[in-house]
Amino acid sequence: MSTDLQRHVIMVDNGDADEPLSTREMNPLFSSILEARLGRRQILKGSAGAAAIGFMGLGLAGCISGSDGDDDEPELAPGEEQPSALLGFDAVPVSFEDKISLPEGYSHQVLIPWGTSLDGDTGFRIESTGEEQADQVGSHHDGMHFFPIDGSSEDGLLVLNHEYVEPRLMHAAYAGKDLSSGAVLLSSDEKRVDDEVLKEMNAHGVTVVRIIRGVNGEWQVQPDGYNRRVTALTEMKLSGPVAGSDLVKTKYSPTGTKTRGTLNNCGSGVTPWNTYMAAEENWAGYFVNEGTYPREHERYGVPRPKKEGERASGKYEWHLAESGNDEYVRFNATASEATAQEDYRNEPNTFGWMVEIDPFDPESTPVKRTAMGRFGHEGVVFAPVVEGQPVVCYSGDDSRFEYIYKFVSRDTYYQTSASGELLDNGTLYVARFNADGSGEWLPLVYGQNGLDESNEKHAFASQADVLVNTRLAADLMGATPMDRPEWGAIDPANGDVYFTLTNNSQRGEDDTNEANPRGPNTHGHIIRWAEAGGEHAATSFEWDIFLFAGDSGESGKPTSIGYDPNGEKLTADNILSSPDGMWIDPDSRVWIQMDSGDTDPFGNCAMLVADPTTGELKRFLVGPVGQEITGISMTPDQRTLFINVQHPGGEWPDYDPSVPPRSATVAIWKDDGGIVGT
Ligand code: FEO
Ligand code: CA
Ligand code: CA
Ligand code: CA
Repeated sequence: MSTDLQRHVIMVDNGDADEPLSTREMNPLFSSILEARLGRRQILKGSAGAAAIGFMGLGLAGCISGSDGDDDEPELAPGEEQPSALLGFDAVPVSFEDKISLPEGYSHQVLIPWGTSLDGDTGFRIESTGEEQADQVGSHHDGMHFFPIDGSSEDGLLVLNHEYVEPRLMHAAYAGKDLSSGAVLLSSDEKRVDDEVLKEMNAHGVTVVRIIRGVNGEWQVQPDGYNRRVTALTEMKLSGPVAGSDLVKTKYSPTGTKTRGTLNNCGSGVTPWNTYMAAEENWAGYFVNEGTYPREHERYGVPRPKKEGERASGKYEWHLAESGNDEYVRFNATASEATAQEDYRNEPNTFGWMVEIDPFDPESTPVKRTAMGRFGHEGVVFAPVVEGQPVVCYSGDDSRFEYIYKFVSRDTYYQTSASGELLDNGTLYVARFNADGSGEWLPLVYGQNGLDESNEKHAFASQADVLVNTRLAADLMGATPMDRPEWGAIDPANGDVYFTLTNNSQRGEDDTNEANPRGPNTHGHIIRWAEAGGEHAATSFEWDIFLFAGDSGESGKPTSIGYDPNGEKLTADNILSSPDGMWIDPDSRVWIQMDSGDTDPFGNCAMLVADPTTGELKRFLVGPVGQEITGISMTPDQRTLFINVQHPGGEWPDYDPSVPPRSATVAIWKDDGGIVGT
């Protein structure tokens, strides 16, 4: 280990660590689209509420849960609420306490905090090596799914993402130093200690761990052959239209068919054939480029020198590992050799994808499914499948002014033969939310609508080129720039698709659109839509806003007919900010997770539950200090709910001064053995 560590501290400027790294100027194209809507906006202008009167007045009730689909008066007046049969608990008050707060009658257990050995040993040592981390639960838990074994609700594989790391909490050599979340220590010759880099890489990725519910009701890690870590070093296959293209050829894979590792895995999804999908969200910041800066780096924000003569700074400076080993230097994406097959200029192009992992095949190679597009994937949600119909899934690009996408497979689904190959051919669409409450899915297909060599703004040479540059293709199609699309969820009762739009501090008063009507959008909102004819593969839809987050003054509570500008504001039972994680359970409870700071009046980040039929909304859980609640899954019997607590900042969960605050999973159950939420 270098002895020079203390001499030189680089504070890597990654802001809030999991805030989006890429921002951009508004494309002039958007401005003109927005201008075209201005005539309409003159009528709607004013508060978000006034804009929403517009949607409601345009007969949108047809797409709204709880409505009978015609223009008749809904059964309940706007703002009126009937008691929900779904939500049987008393709302948990706002709290700043450093603990998990739940409704009366519920218990919880902390499970698999960062550093838990996959053989079940929970002992924690800060001195743990990079190699040891490869067999331990990773850091910063995020998206998650419980895969039952033989349908069991007491035995299954818990699969979860590890979004990022905080080096200040990971390395013995960093103890006692006042470091920001992403800061790393460099030696005097600007190198990083190899083992620190290795430990950070191995704390990324995905954990597969078998857990079993014991007789005392508590869950335990089961040492098992299924247990597995996928990390920032695991070999991955590229599949779909980008595989083999010149844009992904590297020194490691001169044929452009594989890469190493997955990064910044935020939300997740589960396929209809029971595999796990991990999203690659803020991956761009891990690289640097100090030379020619191609569009496939620029539009995603791969760091380059801020001033001439300076070096570029990566999120954790992994490319500066002192050994100069290939697995580390690949994070320098500068074109330094004669051809792409001799350097790592294309390495960033092998990130930004959805990654499929089969948790039931520990030897399987994870696959990056390129047909689903390259962007800051927050997660993915699959529509319910129908025999003989295409597979459809939705994914948001969580950066300010980015878009919501949908993938529709070319081949149709049959349960007996379905596999990940269905995700290799199909159409990627991007959403346009029209002012009148209608919406369109715009195809991102090479050769269609100007996505080809003749395009004056951004020429495309192939479908691989379109997909590697998904954001640019979406810009050209006139997609609607959103307020940071995070998780999507689908109501099993009616197929309505919900997306959280977490917030957008940079949305100006004058660049709002009807689907993102607040500028700045400090607290976020939830949008939803119904596909035309109830077909998820449809190319048009009708949308409305489900709720506006905020305090009791500026919020908008959901009702049986969706957001009602004349309706109620949120109350002490349900104020929230920055909705992020979301899932709709089999009974249509909408679980909504916060990712905001611990601020007044919202308290620590919480999880709320909505009844989309009545509009009732209650706070179910408040997390400890400094964290966000994210990731959600239930056992098939709905008797155990799993959520993750990411980046806690107090004493939780160990309350031991010698152990740093650790991200962890929390298992929650009802003491009477009932369904969670009732
Ligand atoms: Fe990783 Fe968009 O939250
Ligand atoms: Ca996060
Ligand atoms: Ca998130
Ligand atoms: Ca977030």
